[in-house]
Amino acid sequence: MAPFFGHVIAALAGVASTASAVTFTIPSQAHTGNYKYAPVDPAPVGVSFEFFAFPSYFTNVTGTTQCLSNWKDLTGVWPPIRIGGTTQDRAQYDATTAAYVVYTVSNAADAPTSLTFGSSFMTLAAQYGGSVVVGLNRGKNNIQNTINAAKATVGGVKNLLAIELGNEPEYYPSNGQPIAAGSWSPSIDAASQNNWAISVGSALNKRDIIQAGNSNDSPPKWGAAELIATQNATVKQYIHNYAHHNYPGGTITSLMSHSRISSNLHIFDADVAAALREGKQYVFGETNSVSGGGAAAVSPSFGAALWTMDYVLRATYSNISRTYFHHGTVGNCQYCFWGRYSMGAPYYGAYAATAFMANAASLTALDDGTSNYAAYVTFDSAGTPLRALLYNSDYYAGSGTRSTQSFELRGLTGTSIRAKRLTGDSAVARVDQGGKVAFGGQTFTDGDCKISGSETFETLTVSGGQATVSIKASEALLVYLK
Ligand SMILES: *[C@@H]1O[C@H](CO)[C@@H](O)[C@H](O)[C@H]1NC(C)=O
Ligand SMILES: *[C@@H]1O[C@H](CO)[C@@H](O)[C@H](O)[C@H]1NC(C)=O
Ligand SMILES: *[C@@H]1O[C@H](CO)[C@@H](O)[C@H](O)[C@H]1NC(C)=O
Repeated sequence: MAPFFGHVIAALAGVASTASAVTFTIPSQAHTGNYKYAPVDPAPVGVSFEFFAFPSYFTNVTGTTQCLSNWKDLTGVWPPIRIGGTTQDRAQYDATTAAYVVYTVSNAADAPTSLTFGSSFMTLAAQYGGSVVVGLNRGKNNIQNTINAAKATVGGVKNLLAIELGNEPEYYPSNGQPIAAGSWSPSIDAASQNNWAISVGSALNKRDIIQAGNSNDSPPKWGAAELIATQNATVKQYIHNYAHHNYPGGTITSLMSHSRISSNLHIFDADVAAALREGKQYVFGETNSVSGGGAAAVSPSFGAALWTMDYVLRATYSNISRTYFHHGTVGNCQYCFWGRYSMGAPYYGAYAATAFMANAASLTALDDGTSNYAAYVTFDSAGTPLRALLYNSDYYAGSGTRSTQSFELRGLTGTSIRAKRLTGDSAVARVDQGGKVAFGGQTFTDGDCKISGSETFETLTVSGGQATVSIKASEALLVYLK
């Protein structure tokens, strides 16, 4: 046995050292070749703020505005925000209060079990430069209060994109929400959503105003296709778009795995198609790596940053128009992109994805989603290739040899192209614990989110329309094609 075993080792070693390049051909024009294309929203990477925490983020967390404006510097528009979450169904509108929000908690790390908010909450939302989705209460079954809140929202938030009527309604029974007293099911919720959309929409005298759905449990049990099947034209006139929530979870290794990201997105294919058939957009209204504020061992890592990047690109490729990454209780949020005192590594992934999609009209994926290696291309409004993004999702935990994968690009023009690398010490690196993560040599400063360091490009030589580049395990490269 021994000699035979030795042969096998030698053969494997031979394969490893000459690992062949993965090859991708850049289409010379959008909507050509054997690829699927998706439109790119002016700002596909968004942020969701937990309802009660929204005023704190904008009045008491220095980094918030700077972190958002860093993306605006790339795209020309402020990223979209959504204000909502579990506490939207614990909140009641109080027209008499001057405060943004009123609540008490015994520990600053807790979310309030009930709260009120005033019209200044809308004034604050109106000061934001980008579009805003505001999530209102359905769980408490106080429709008059929600209509009053909706009127104040529509009147006060000039940059309003849509309002939600309830958050993750499948959990209403376990949360003891009055609307689910008696019985509750997807069809009972759908009837409730539809009646509320008609009541609130007609009270506002406003069409295309409701972001509907907002479930977290997987389709088809809870989702857009299931909801749309219950809706007639009277309801549909009030629906602006459909939304779902998604927290894939897992370990760092499984979270950042490109094939797992791709298969996770396929869960939503039928729902996206159902929304598009209605001529309405489909969005991830609330999402992040691991539910419940994130997992300490997973969510703050550079691997989670790579998940953030690849996930929002695959979502965009899947015709999901916008992806709102959730931010919860300030100071108690493992997946947050930034906090009062430190940056989170995932911000870097969101930044790289934003840089890749900036000013693009469409996007395609060149890979089929079954391997660890991804390649995307964006195109401008004339259909000309803008940028490519290459991702090696092999896991590197920080010890031993870090493997590399060659990516060969074909269909290039000119003699050289520039690229920026998204890299980190390892997939487990945490910038809030001193780990090094950088994009194009630059970092974001703790506390104020200002970009720091000099922008660094690498140059790839193009010969015969081809260029080859090495990407380390747990690394990505943004290639500028023009
Ligand atoms: C602002 O943040 C500080 C912690 O830095 C906290 O003590 C204070 O209560 C917060 N103020 C408001 C209005 O949220
Ligand atoms: C449409 O559906 C709603 C319930 O969602 C119902 O109240 C209304 O009567 C229906 N309208 C028509 C024209 O069938
Ligand atoms: C996205 O929608 C367009 C139609 O708007 C379709 O042609 C395309 O195939 C869809 N993309 C994917 C990845 O399904």
